Amino acid sequence: MYSVLDYGRMAADPVRMDAYARAIERAVKPGSVVVDLGAGTGVFSILAARAGAKRVHAIEPNPAVWLLSELAAENGVSDRITIHQATSYEVDLPERADVIISDLRGILPLHEENLYATRDARKRFLTSGGAALPQSDRLVVALVGGESMWHWLAESWESLDAHGVTSRAARASILNAPYSDRTHPIASSDVLSDARTWTTLDYATFDSSVVEGTCALTVGREGVAHGFAVWFEATILDDIRFDTAPGSPRIYSRLFLPFLDPLPVATGDRLEVTLRADAHGTRWAWDTTTSRGRTRQATFLGAPTAPEALLRQSAAHRPTLSSHGSRVRTLLERMDGARTVQDLAHDLERELPPESPLRARALDEVREVVSRYAR
Ligand SMILES: C[S@@+](CC[C@H](N)C(=O)[O-])C[C@H]1O[C@@H](n2cnc3c(N)ncnc32)[C@H](O)[C@@H]1O
Repeated sequence: MYSVLDYGRMAADPVRMDAYARAIERAVKPGSVVVDLGAGTGVFSILAARAGAKRVHAIEPNPAVWLLSELAAENGVSDRITIHQATSYEVDLPERADVIISDLRGILPLHEENLYATRDARKRFLTSGGAALPQSDRLVVALVGGESMWHWLAESWESLDAHGVTSRAARASILNAPYSDRTHPIASSDVLSDARTWTTLDYATFDSSVVEGTCALTVGREGVAHGFAVWFEATILDDIRFDTAPGSPRIYSRLFLPFLDPLPVATGDRLEVTLRADAHGTRWAWDTTTSRGRTRQATFLGAPTAPEALLRQSAAHRPTLSSHGSRVRTLLERMDGARTVQDLAHDLERELPPESPLRARALDEVREVVSRYAR
């Protein structure tokens, strides 16, 4: 969960903020109703209110959203902002919005609930003919040097050699995962090929759970490639755009997909990459075809997991409740508005075996369930 400092760092990205501020200024008219989806601490809400909105619905599950009540007062717009501390899925609004503003991206727009929540919000909150910002994000891929990042990843376990312990499995696991380049920023001089559009996410029409595309890349200069960089160009509103290309110090950073081994390349070499990711941005696969053959990499090949855990993900699996699930169900059933948190914790504690280490944290467990599922 983001902290107030994190939200401050998002607001401190001048290119991102300038693009959103200009788009809000253009889209919000005096008297508009606005939804700030994923409001964080509500900077966009304040800008929308200042642009003339008569009502801004700031929707955000993070309790940090309550800072907005103070920020709105400081900025003289409290009377026009309504805070909904919840995910958008749990909110019903009394009116439709003329403008929805959101930035639910992470490193890329394929991040957690971004695509699902924005789609749902457009359907349920936006008036017909209303404006939803951003309009689209174009995802771009290129071959990159990324030497320092790659060595940092690939050699992260090698100090075990000194103790006579090998770690080939850890290396394979690490190199089958995507990374932010935040610790080792990819510079524009690291880009070794042309940059190609992998896919364009048009928020008005995107309706898929998987993104897949193949790009043919041509090497522009000789070097040693260590992976691919993926970034995006955002169209917030018509001509108001920004990108997160290598070399740009954006809050989002770039996604680095490492190779299993460094790949020397010469000017004019051609290669093909097929990229697949789920809409949440958690599962990735990248197949690289060069004149030397094809290499398949995927988070599936790298994530340590138990066979039972994989089985539980299967659509055909018939689950039963774990002991934790049973406790949560019992707790939920007892939340009838009569029992206090302390009562619930006492009951829970009494029902656990005397030797259970969970007895000591019964109150914490109740609080966790309450903060997640209760009013
Ligand atoms: C990248 S932050 C942006 C915050 C703020 N709009 C800004 O620009 O400073 C995205 C926020 O969206 C929130 N979020 C994610 N999914 C959400 C959903 N379904 N409904 C409401 N908020 C959501 C997250 O908690 C997070 O605070």
